Amino acid sequence: MSEMNDQSKLDQLEKFKVDHSNSKLTTAQGLRVSQTDDSLKAGQRGPTLMEDFHFREKLTHFDNERIPERVVHARGFGAHGYFQVYEPMGEFTKAGFLQNPSVKTPVFVRFSTVVGSKGSADTVRDVRGFATKFYTEEGNYDLVANNMPIFFIHDGIKFPDVVHAIKPEQHNEIPQASAAHDTFWDFMVNTPELTHMIMWLMSDRAIPRSFRMMEGFGVNTFRFVNAQGKARFVKLHWKPKLGVHSLVWDEAQKIAGKDPDYNRRDLWDAINVGDFPEFELGVQMIEEEQEFDFDFDILDATKFWPEEQVPVKLMGKMVLNRNVDNHFAETEQVAFHPGNVVPGIDFTNDPLLQGRLFSYIDTQLMRLGGPNFHEIPINRPITAVRTNMREGMHRMTVDKGRVSYSPNSLRGGDPQPATEAEGGYVHYMEKVDGRKIRQRSDSFMDFFGQATLFWNSMSPPERRHIIDAFHFELGNVLDMTTRQRLVDLFNNVDGELAREIALGIGVNPPHEPGGTGVTASSPAISQANTIKTPATRKVAIIADNGFNYFEIQQMIDRMKQAGVHIELISKYQGPIHAACGRQMQVNRNYQTASSVFFDAVYIPGGRASVDTLLTHGDAMHFVNEAFKHAKSVAASNEGVDLFEQSEILGVRLAPFDSSGQVIYEKGVVTIRNATDLGAFADEFLGAIAEHRHWIRLAEKDMVTA
Ligand code: HEM
Repeated sequence: MSEMNDQSKLDQLEKFKVDHSNSKLTTAQGLRVSQTDDSLKAGQRGPTLMEDFHFREKLTHFDNERIPERVVHARGFGAHGYFQVYEPMGEFTKAGFLQNPSVKTPVFVRFSTVVGSKGSADTVRDVRGFATKFYTEEGNYDLVANNMPIFFIHDGIKFPDVVHAIKPEQHNEIPQASAAHDTFWDFMVNTPELTHMIMWLMSDRAIPRSFRMMEGFGVNTFRFVNAQGKARFVKLHWKPKLGVHSLVWDEAQKIAGKDPDYNRRDLWDAINVGDFPEFELGVQMIEEEQEFDFDFDILDATKFWPEEQVPVKLMGKMVLNRNVDNHFAETEQVAFHPGNVVPGIDFTNDPLLQGRLFSYIDTQLMRLGGPNFHEIPINRPITAVRTNMREGMHRMTVDKGRVSYSPNSLRGGDPQPATEAEGGYVHYMEKVDGRKIRQRSDSFMDFFGQATLFWNSMSPPERRHIIDAFHFELGNVLDMTTRQRLVDLFNNVDGELAREIALGIGVNPPHEPGGTGVTASSPAISQANTIKTPATRKVAIIADNGFNYFEIQQMIDRMKQAGVHIELISKYQGPIHAACGRQMQVNRNYQTASSVFFDAVYIPGGRASVDTLLTHGDAMHFVNEAFKHAKSVAASNEGVDLFEQSEILGVRLAPFDSSGQVIYEKGVVTIRNATDLGAFADEFLGAIAEHRHWIRLAEKDMVTA
């Protein structure tokens, strides 16, 4: 039985942690400090003295507290957890952490955006990073994934170009964390291999509701190798237990101003209240003999393997159950690298992967100040590290003895290389034979087929969002020629898509008939088909003095049972009083709350409360905005009066004469003349599980063809 468990990494980290409670302030040299508020001066109003070591130390440390932010994925947020395999995977891979269901392998995960600086907003339109470090008994394995299954480019050599194009423009450093500017779309129109990725980037996937509600994709094609040496091509995926859900663009933009930390706060809070995010690790496998059986090249990172063609086998589950103690020490200093593998996991000739294998360690040498960053506590494996490498900036290990080379006799040859049987990593012996050539394989050159497949797979509201996103992005491109060329380019994907894009950005619809002729779709990639649950959702209850206590209490009890979180919103914080005299504590006022922070809104009854809310523009705005963002809204008894005065249009609400009947239409749930809200609460929970009610969108706004 293994001695490693989910605590192993935390136990190791613990040795480096310091708690400064009940202590005296010292200098970095351990000297107690008698005063830290005034520098040492020659006289009260005199000059500061050079000999003031405390002053000098404080300032020099401060002056050097910044390290370079990541060149991409600068803004990120991390958490600890564990991974547990469901059943031994030995038939496919000898990776130790994928064999024993009783072992919990510690993990550290960092979620990120790609383009924005470290201080940029969370809810921008962007790819999300989803990097996981498994601290296995065979050393660290890193699955450095994104929340989209494909990538912009085929070949690592184009990575600097795509990043230069999408980052803020060179002359004025505008815009921050956004692709909506000329250089990106200029690059795009000249690099049609981006087409498929752009479809994903314009989709709802680019504005996730939560890190807890995103898939993760290793993107690149790796190999699994079993103990017999048999290899298979694989792609690895994370599947969130809460399903894949997104914000709407208007909401994302508002949140960027109201709470730029929205996604990180969501993760931090969820872990703090025990809503531990869970993701299942899945693998798609292709036998070596089937390498050429597909209408795409399986080494092309701009293509995904449709689940309907290559099923995802779920191998195990990851649970994130602990927040970090220190963001800088852990999240900022963690260093992932797709080249950190364990026996049983190997590489392929995917040219994007090959670029990545060089890039990560190279950038970390600079970002973390030298070659010893593997010694930073968060990066240390839980297995022993025995190399012949010494010295370099910030070396912490004190290696004993005079020998630092291999082979040696002076130390009996130690440390010795291990055989394969002893766990030594042996590279898969792929046969390679070719001429040196700077060229791309013809099999990579279908830029549009899977872009059409993606478009075909989207539900009508998802298509609407994609077109709206194009209108925003291309509407911000100043060069009209680029806009026109982009419309003509996307005509290769789908004619209607191109026409709809053209309509919003003031250029001509394409003259040529569009499309690729691909008619297939992949239902698995539409968010319409994702897991739906109310668990961990957030509901705002808006009320004022005179509210009906029993209504709120029933709703709170039922919501809590379903794992839904409630906040009470009113004009003022502090207690509000119910008609029966009891009181409740308001969590947020209209200034600190906003509908965009919640998944649903409920207005309880109580004559005086609702009459007051009817005079509050903020309460009405709250409801209208939630309705506009296609969220579930509910009202009971007098609360329905507020809906009647709102912009909830074309929806049947509970009439005054109904006898306690729940009315549900388009995610609007109402009831009048009712004291028992059981059925009403259940209907509301069902609506919350749906997350959005796109059916409210007018038919004319849908793109169905
Ligand atoms: C040739 C293509 C690519 C290159 C050259 C590249 C390069 C980089 C670099 C230099 C970093 C910063 C690392 C650091 O400072 O620690 C980074 C971060 C990252 N990359 Fe890539 N990348 C490429 C493609 C991809 C792909 C395809 C994915 C997704 C599968 C991906 C996912 C990530 C993630 C998640 C991070 C952030 C890691 C963290 O949280 O620290 N990258 N990449």
